[in-house]
Amino acid sequence: MTITESVEKSRKTLGGASSRKRDERAAKSAKPEIRRVSPALGAEVLNVDLREDLPDETIAEMRKALNENCLLLIRDQDITPEQHVAFSRRFGELEIHVLTEYLLPDLPEVLVLSNVKKNGKIMGRAGVGEYWHSDLQYLAKPSLGSIMHAIEVPEIGGDTMFANQFAAYEALSDGMRDLLDGLEVVHHFAKARYNSVQVGYARPYSDEELKKTPPVTHPAVRTHPETGRKALYASPGCALNFVGMTEEESRPLLEFLYRHAINPRFLYRHKWRANDIVFWDNRSLMHYAVQDYDHASDRRHMHRTTVSGDEPY
Ligand code: OGA
Ligand code: MN
Repeated sequence: MTITESVEKSRKTLGGASSRKRDERAAKSAKPEIRRVSPALGAEVLNVDLREDLPDETIAEMRKALNENCLLLIRDQDITPEQHVAFSRRFGELEIHVLTEYLLPDLPEVLVLSNVKKNGKIMGRAGVGEYWHSDLQYLAKPSLGSIMHAIEVPEIGGDTMFANQFAAYEALSDGMRDLLDGLEVVHHFAKARYNSVQVGYARPYSDEELKKTPPVTHPAVRTHPETGRKALYASPGCALNFVGMTEEESRPLLEFLYRHAINPRFLYRHKWRANDIVFWDNRSLMHYAVQDYDHASDRRHMHRTTVSGDEPY
């Protein structure tokens, strides 16, 4: 073989190898493996690499798995904020959070949840979500789902708990379901603020922030727009009262629902590893951030995108 021939051959082999690799990757990422993580909810998606522009079929499979399992876990994703945003956009428009001081300056779709300090200043919103809630439920159009990328997590502690509200609704008696099907709930962001101030982390919201978030009304039971399945939709995060009833009158039934909704059978508790991506469905789940780590010494640094959703019905 001449030198020219051998160079040509090696070029072909290398070219062949790399295109074969691309094909293999595509074939692999087109067939994600879905594995349930708990009886209550959640599925791990294997064989996907979020640094890549995933095929439409893969996104469709993930969407189906999300609708069926309410939460997706994708491990070992060392992605940039840009890749996080690009992946998130495949599922819809993204929200820009009202608390603008916690957004990445060049990429406002990313909300930073962090207790890590840089130049003496805390890099994000610290210690939030220590009460059962669904993200942006206080908006007329709450979020479809949130996609969190764990960048740094404590060795132990700082888990997030999730509660399946399809299961909660389905476990109620016919009588209670009929009653709830006819009720609407008033939600207000100020209540979420109150919850956070109670646990000692949040600053009071400004008048400006509260003006952007007037009280809203949603059905107490919402129908999942993609599957038609019904979920209980009254979390203590921002619910005030039933429409047409006082807070005092509403309280006994709301408190019953809050208790019922977090029966251990409906729960999954996620222990975070660095580079976990968790995509949770805000239409069918509530979640709770357990603040049981030492905020002074245990670093927890997360990025969250929030996919826009529809008006609940
Ligand atoms: C959130 C939230 C959970 C957590 O980002 O919406 O509630 O564990 N955080 O940080
Ligand atoms: Mn939340």
